[in-house]
Amino acid sequence: MAQAEHPTPVTSRRGGPLKGRVRVPGDKSISHRAMIFGLLAIGETRVSGLLEGEDVLRTAAAARALGAIVHHDGPGAWRVTGVGVGGLKEPAHLLDFGNAGTGSRLMMGVCGSHPITTTFDGDASLRKRPMRRILDPLEQMGTVVLRQEEGGRLPLTLRGPQEAVPITYRTPVASAQIKSAVLLAGLAAPGVTTVIEAEATRDHTEKMLTHFGAEVTVTQEGEHGRRIALTGQPELAAAPIIVPADPSSAAFPLVAALIVPGSDVLIESVMTNPLRSGLLTTLREMGAEITVEREANEGGETVADLRVRFSALRGVTVPPERAPAMIDEYPVLAVAASFASGTTRMRGLQELRVKESDRLAAVEAGLKAAGVSCAIEGDDLIVEGRSEVAGGGVVATHLDHRIAMSFLVMGLATQKPMQVDDGAMIATSFPSFIGLMRQLGGDIA
Ligand code: S3P
Repeated sequence: MAQAEHPTPVTSRRGGPLKGRVRVPGDKSISHRAMIFGLLAIGETRVSGLLEGEDVLRTAAAARALGAIVHHDGPGAWRVTGVGVGGLKEPAHLLDFGNAGTGSRLMMGVCGSHPITTTFDGDASLRKRPMRRILDPLEQMGTVVLRQEEGGRLPLTLRGPQEAVPITYRTPVASAQIKSAVLLAGLAAPGVTTVIEAEATRDHTEKMLTHFGAEVTVTQEGEHGRRIALTGQPELAAAPIIVPADPSSAAFPLVAALIVPGSDVLIESVMTNPLRSGLLTTLREMGAEITVEREANEGGETVADLRVRFSALRGVTVPPERAPAMIDEYPVLAVAASFASGTTRMRGLQELRVKESDRLAAVEAGLKAAGVSCAIEGDDLIVEGRSEVAGGGVVATHLDHRIAMSFLVMGLATQKPMQVDDGAMIATSFPSFIGLMRQLGGDIA
């Protein structure tokens, strides 16, 4: 079992209703990309609202090692002066990405297409995660893998070609990380690099490429997919980035309010990009009372205040094609499903097995520790909901921030407290989680 060196157990217990107004930190996906685009642009990119979680700070450190000048001006406010596409410096030391899958995979795309040698490493969780999915297209573009652990795992060393080869690549699984790594590598290649995805995944990379001045065309591919074509070797020009609040972090107070009786919570200015909003769709189908109070545009993304009240939920079937739009939200959805009447079947969850932990197994074990009856059938997770959930269990988090936060949310509504074996990894994506939940009245310590 992956364990932190000094695990910090955290416990949550049932109390009164959750009430109040909160704002969750900046979006993790956009924050990583802010550092990466800042590195690849000419000029100074100003970022506001950056998520200052450990994952993003690792990407900032990598950007520095590759030649960017990175300044921290105040909470969420950063400036990055880049080196331009083609201008990366060979780092003097290995790049340690800690727990960060997104940072490491996107940076492999960046470094793998430049004539430099780069070594990537990470913590015990990241070392287990499959990187072949990134190395396969990069090898087609001319990257040489000088060192890798079995199955293309970290630590690994890449050497990029003098000039990368543009490719047309069909992603074998729906993954914004694969798509983004190929497109970022394509920046250094002459000609057009094309990525075809059978299911549309989060589109932050495409949007930011356009925002920084690259030529990108996006067309529909089949019923649910997209074809993204990027013209290589553009001169990216620094551009301001406003990072909206992370819907994947908002999911935790949102589900907490739904399952703790009497709750009424407002979560401010949450990004409502449709490719990230599958959880909202699903919870509404389950009968959740969530209202959108104030829609606005923040840095090219729509945002809205979400008002959430305690709701009587009912079980639903979540279709597999919705997975890309809520891929990080299944653990907390499984918690919501535990309190719903009837059965919830979440279909097509194979990708959950290769996240920060094997989330299918971790969620099943956590639910069982809380006395919830559930099962994995093939790639589906089935949860039998009930109005009273016993709780009282200890959950193994396997270095996974979202497993920790999901089961702490659960403990706010179970009869007996829930404990997670280690809350330390919460700092990777949502450092203020415990304080914010306490501000709403949640008993977490
Ligand atoms: C992300 C893509 C998703 C998601 C991850 C962030 C991104 O991963 O799970 O948390 O920022 O591109 P996959 O591409 O592996 O599905």
